Amino acid sequence: MRLAAALRLAFLSLAPSLLPLDTANAQNAVALTGQVTSTEEGAMEGVLVNARKGTITITVVSDAQGRYSFPASKLAPGQYALSIRAIGYDLDNSKTVEVGPRTTTHNLTLKKTEDLAAQMSNGEWLHSVPGTDQQKGLLLSCVGCHTLERFMRSSHDSKTLMEITLPRMQGYVNQSIPQNPQLRRGARLMEERGDQRVQVFRNVAEFLGTINLSGGKSTWAFDLKRLPRPKGRATQVIYTEYDLPRDTISPHDVVLDKDGIAWYSSFGEQFFGRLDPKTGAVKEYAMPLHKPDFPRGSLGLRADRAGNWWLGNMYQAAIVKFDPKTERFTAWPMPPEYNIDASQVNMVRPESSHVDGKVWSQNNGFAAVHRLDLSTGKIETYEPFKTSKVPHNIYDVIPDSQNNVYFTDFRNFHIGRIDAKTGEVKLYAALTPRSAPRRGYMDEQDRLWFGMYRADRVGLFNTRTETFKEWLMPTKWASPYDVVLDRNEELWTGSMITDQVTRLNTKTDEMVEYLLPRTTNIRRVYVDNTTNPVTFWVGSNHGASIIKLEPLD
Ligand code: HEC
Repeated sequence: MRLAAALRLAFLSLAPSLLPLDTANAQNAVALTGQVTSTEEGAMEGVLVNARKGTITITVVSDAQGRYSFPASKLAPGQYALSIRAIGYDLDNSKTVEVGPRTTTHNLTLKKTEDLAAQMSNGEWLHSVPGTDQQKGLLLSCVGCHTLERFMRSSHDSKTLMEITLPRMQGYVNQSIPQNPQLRRGARLMEERGDQRVQVFRNVAEFLGTINLSGGKSTWAFDLKRLPRPKGRATQVIYTEYDLPRDTISPHDVVLDKDGIAWYSSFGEQFFGRLDPKTGAVKEYAMPLHKPDFPRGSLGLRADRAGNWWLGNMYQAAIVKFDPKTERFTAWPMPPEYNIDASQVNMVRPESSHVDGKVWSQNNGFAAVHRLDLSTGKIETYEPFKTSKVPHNIYDVIPDSQNNVYFTDFRNFHIGRIDAKTGEVKLYAALTPRSAPRRGYMDEQDRLWFGMYRADRVGLFNTRTETFKEWLMPTKWASPYDVVLDRNEELWTGSMITDQVTRLNTKTDEMVEYLLPRTTNIRRVYVDNTTNPVTFWVGSNHGASIIKLEPLD
């Protein structure tokens, strides 16, 4: 553990004894409790119960006896709006509750929902639709911007999908969401080119036209399958969800600073934001535009040792630094020869820049790795696949302790390495073919952990022994995006598809799957190691909120 973190932990564990006794007792007291039942199941385990006041929602999960309980430390007296998440059910009784100074008891009755489709996660659609895994895998390319439900409810036939819908989707940049679409540069031109481009979509459209409501169907021609509700350890958790001020904010990466402030990159807007979890207050900083006619928003967010924030400003084609002391941005646009229309700087990795004064970055537009020299401001570029006949995509770049860089090849299943001193490039094949390694985390022993999006796995590459290890996720279509290792060597990941956060004990291989309170699209994951137990944080990329997950064990 880092020294600062250790000191903070020591302080936190001292703090309660300094408080007056009644406050200390109040922390164990229960504010609101009750039992969750339904006619169909009796007492229900694994029902998420949400209590909302203002922009903050606290969620707990019912246990094996159907009991839920909110600690008084989380719910101050006052009025709360209640809602639930339990696939197949709606809350039947009173949806507001007055929490008093003593324990309030409020039992909840659930009834069967009349609109199951509206509650289905993307994962549940993938489990339900008929088709081969390869065909269903085509749907993974839709979930980045909106839910599958949006498509499943459409009545377009294959021809309309092929000629109109899919080319239109292709015209949006990947940070688009229905409430904030942004066009790819040259998208209109592509639409006009017509016929030959449309053929590209033929296979996909033929499959898609068999599973939605095309041909005048009023309902789907297959059963809607539900994933099991959380049980056992997965119910031992408290969530806090902080709503952000606009539904167009897609918090892609969320990272805490040493004072516990949550900073986030805005995927589709030219703002950098911070949330104070103590009050829920949000402050935003307008980021300068570098290419006004190009899509806005940033993706990767990382801090350097001095506490500066670094962002990949995507289609603005710049590496951006934010100094929280002066609240000023500094930007390094791509050099002219790489500042083409396709240029897209997603990741910036300053974590080992103190070693040699260099910051690694990546370009999604043409499978390149960039390296910024902080003393000269010059940007060097590596294109390891320039002459390759097979398509590649460099998704993440991850520096080791010596500031050598490793990268993930999302189009294939390789981990690459560029030597910081010699520039030599090496490639290592992961164990599962076509597994699409996505984002990665380097631990203090230079072990690289990564999400394997198309293989439902998480991977480990030990950079010192050059060996791999992989773990299969318990739920099919988990499609993990990113991973983070906590101080107990437990690995955390989130699903872009199932709304589940998975905690893997890397010593025992045991896994716990926590379900998030609302449907979302999980990207970057983060763990705060200064709390006991550790606290998990994630942005709701499609839900305009930031979620804190506190396991109780
Ligand atoms: C890059 C972002 C993006 C991706 C990827 C994407 N969409 Fe969309 N989609 C949008 C946006 C934005 C809207 C709302 C604006 C609109 O309708 O054009 C939308 C709306 C829709 C609609 C409702 C509007 C209509 O025409 O009926 C359907 C259906 C749809 N998408 C299907 C799909 C399918 C199928 C896929 C995957 C093959 C997909 N989308 C992938 C961005 C995307």
